[in-house]
Amino acid sequence: MVELIKKLNKDGRSATEIKKIVADPGFGKVFTDHMASANYSVKQGWHDVSVKPYAPFQMDPAMLAIHYGQAIFEGMKAYRWPDGSVYTFRPEMNARRFQRSARRLAMPEPAEDLFLTMVQKLVETDNAYVPSGGDKSLYIRPFMFASEVGLGVRPATEYLFLVIASPVGAYFDPTKAVSVWVSTEFVRAAPGGTGEAKCAGNYAASLIAQAQAKEQGCDQVIWLDAIERKWIEEMGGMNLFFVLGSGDEAQLLTPELTGTLLPGVTRDSLIQLGNDLGYDTHEGKISVDELYESIQSGRITEVFACGTAAVIAPIGEIKSATRNIKVGDGLPGPITMKLRKALLDIQTGIAPDKHHWVYRLV
Ligand code: COI
Repeated sequence: MVELIKKLNKDGRSATEIKKIVADPGFGKVFTDHMASANYSVKQGWHDVSVKPYAPFQMDPAMLAIHYGQAIFEGMKAYRWPDGSVYTFRPEMNARRFQRSARRLAMPEPAEDLFLTMVQKLVETDNAYVPSGGDKSLYIRPFMFASEVGLGVRPATEYLFLVIASPVGAYFDPTKAVSVWVSTEFVRAAPGGTGEAKCAGNYAASLIAQAQAKEQGCDQVIWLDAIERKWIEEMGGMNLFFVLGSGDEAQLLTPELTGTLLPGVTRDSLIQLGNDLGYDTHEGKISVDELYESIQSGRITEVFACGTAAVIAPIGEIKSATRNIKVGDGLPGPITMKLRKALLDIQTGIAPDKHHWVYRLV
């Protein structure tokens, strides 16, 4: 167990203020009173692990992360269960993905125990910020960056690993379907690149295409592979699923992990849950042409994206430079919503957790 130095904030918000924030939190706008923090240096290894008041920190203008981009993050959620306890979902998967992201960016890998302890201690400390009910949760953001000062291009020798948290509501309104723009001009990730890593640079590189999607009247961007510009990979920073057929006979397909896609925790869980619910669920390839043809013929009946923040976001319309098609009737589909409910019910303690996915924090 990691030793924590706990410095409680005497000046945190009052219980009344917290209640007000938690009642209508938005997404990522307000942060809890504390943050968990750990320093790393090649000389000392991990040290100064603490939970301390959430506060800005001083940054040297030559800090390596802001020049050469050694910065990674994770996204997790804590849910208040009906009995008042607080659980998170498959946190060991986030801890391991954080380690893989670190490895890819030549950063030190925090041990799983350090990662989980920092998350747990922060949520214990700021327990009052965990909302209950509906689509609300405490979004937890572990992140790490190169804190060493210098301009030489090489892996830094000093890092800061922090965990912050923010009470959140739904990322997208789940009763509405989003529209997506198929980007043929930009790519998110190329073979051998950082597509599998949850690194800040991937998100920076996506913003221009996201802006283009907005100009085209769409909510989000769909990424194709970098080589053939043909195979569907992801939506924004989320994984995709396609529903083939309908009713009990429906099947699910999600793009396979080729090294350029983010291995999503929600994606992995939905493959299992899809099969549990009796839908044959496959990982495979689907081209953009096949997607359009299958929607046109009625073979694909629903499309949705998934990720920790949004859980499941139904997709109602797909646009590209040459084509524009509605998915089904353009509204959230029944299988999409059934999967969303099945997953959320496990995460919020309403349904049994037969895969041992939930993890008690408080
Ligand atoms: C998530 O689904 O957790 C994400 O990665 C989205 C986040 C960048 C807001």
